[in-house]
Amino acid sequence: MSPNAERRTTPHPPRRSKSAWTRRAGLAATAAGAALGLLTAAPTAAGAATPHRPTTHTSAHTAALAAPDIPVANVKAHLDQLQSIASANNGNRAHGRPGYRASLDYIKGKLDAAGYTTRLQQFTTSGTTGWNLIADWPGGDANQVLMAGAHLDSVSAGPGINDNGSGSAAVLENALAVSRAGLTPKKHLRFGWWGAEELGMRGSQYYVNSLPAAERAKISGYLNFDMVGSPNPGYFVYDDNPELESVFKDFYAKLNIPTEIETEGDGRSDHAPFKNAGIPVGGLFSGADYRKTAAQAQKWGGTAGQPFDRCYHSSCDTSANINDTALDRNSDAIAHAIWTLAAGSTTPPDGTVYENTVDITIPDNGPTVTSPIAVTGRTGNAPAALKVEVDIKHSYRGDLVIDLLAPDGTAYRLKNANSSDSAHDVKETYTVDASSKRANGAWMLRVQDVAAQDTGYIDSWKLTF
Ligand code: TRP
Ligand code: ZN
Ligand code: CA
Repeated sequence: MSPNAERRTTPHPPRRSKSAWTRRAGLAATAAGAALGLLTAAPTAAGAATPHRPTTHTSAHTAALAAPDIPVANVKAHLDQLQSIASANNGNRAHGRPGYRASLDYIKGKLDAAGYTTRLQQFTTSGTTGWNLIADWPGGDANQVLMAGAHLDSVSAGPGINDNGSGSAAVLENALAVSRAGLTPKKHLRFGWWGAEELGMRGSQYYVNSLPAAERAKISGYLNFDMVGSPNPGYFVYDDNPELESVFKDFYAKLNIPTEIETEGDGRSDHAPFKNAGIPVGGLFSGADYRKTAAQAQKWGGTAGQPFDRCYHSSCDTSANINDTALDRNSDAIAHAIWTLAAGSTTPPDGTVYENTVDITIPDNGPTVTSPIAVTGRTGNAPAALKVEVDIKHSYRGDLVIDLLAPDGTAYRLKNANSSDSAHDVKETYTVDASSKRANGAWMLRVQDVAAQDTGYIDSWKLTF
């Protein structure tokens, strides 16, 4: 029987005991992966990053917040800027050319405005001056540094929007998202934009060489993003460090998107100098000049027998040379990695309470509304006796149908409608056996008012893990 049919037609006697309120509905997800999108604050314009404390929509008492959805429109706005810079500077952003320096200044301006501590690291290669841009997010454990980076230079043949405006813009927008979230991670966060990658990873090699051994040892991981919006995309994950690899694989597994291990020239990007210095590396790649096989087209869509990026290193690597879906997913995957890895591995203690105190109006006799709680930093599954405390103000609580949604969308019915229950408000603690579900992710309280006249709102709700 569908829950809707049950809701509309079945009059329910008053519940006798608390345990009777609770049962597993085991319903299919209404929208797979919707949880990821629902966690987020509204997209912010690309230029509007302002550092501030988190305006906690969801406040977890001890755990970190979940990663935000990175607005792909913002990432694309950065790519448009890089395209304009190339167009105004002889069509490229290559090492030693004015388009490179202008690209650097664009990125640096955004980071400075967002509260980063930035520095340019100058180096000389092929007789020409180049720069890396290093941006530190204040705070975190200086002895545990998580780095993410991308090369910002193009080849001289073109504007380099997929290679590697895509990685540069995705990392930039992630850095801005860290600022918007007011993230206070356990680890120290550092971002890098490298020069002269196209001449043989010169900038990143220079950076790694410049670090004293003691500083290198503090870098717990380096994540590299070089070509993450290929127009005929594949989803490749670097295979070096198991923890860094699985954080990306987990993200894609949740979206039901298969990944492959990156093999298109291992060591062909800026992770190589880090890896050679003994620093764990990870990263994402959507493919360069290799051709997509029939099997790959089968699982990822796109065109078999064609390169992942037919404009690789050529003049047509423009802002038209981007697959928005790949860029969007990879940008979100980066956020997931940063939020997960920088949070550190300390598990919040059992009994941690996660709460959402944002008031949500429940439309009279209308559609469902949801209120999210982001659970992060936990290991394993949810408790067998997950406590769900619900505080709803309503003038006739019998109107209300309430479900708890697990991060995978599974619904657990907490309360059915009951036209004879005329009391005010729902202030109740339910117990749900959620032991088959992973703890981490976006849990939702879903409420519907199914009878006309009386109204109310979700005041707050809590989960105890
Ligand atoms: N910028 C790299 C290059 O020009 C692109 C690339 C090719 C790449 N193969 C790769 C990046 C594998 C990462 C992994 O060579
Ligand atoms: Zn390249
Ligand atoms: Ca009503």
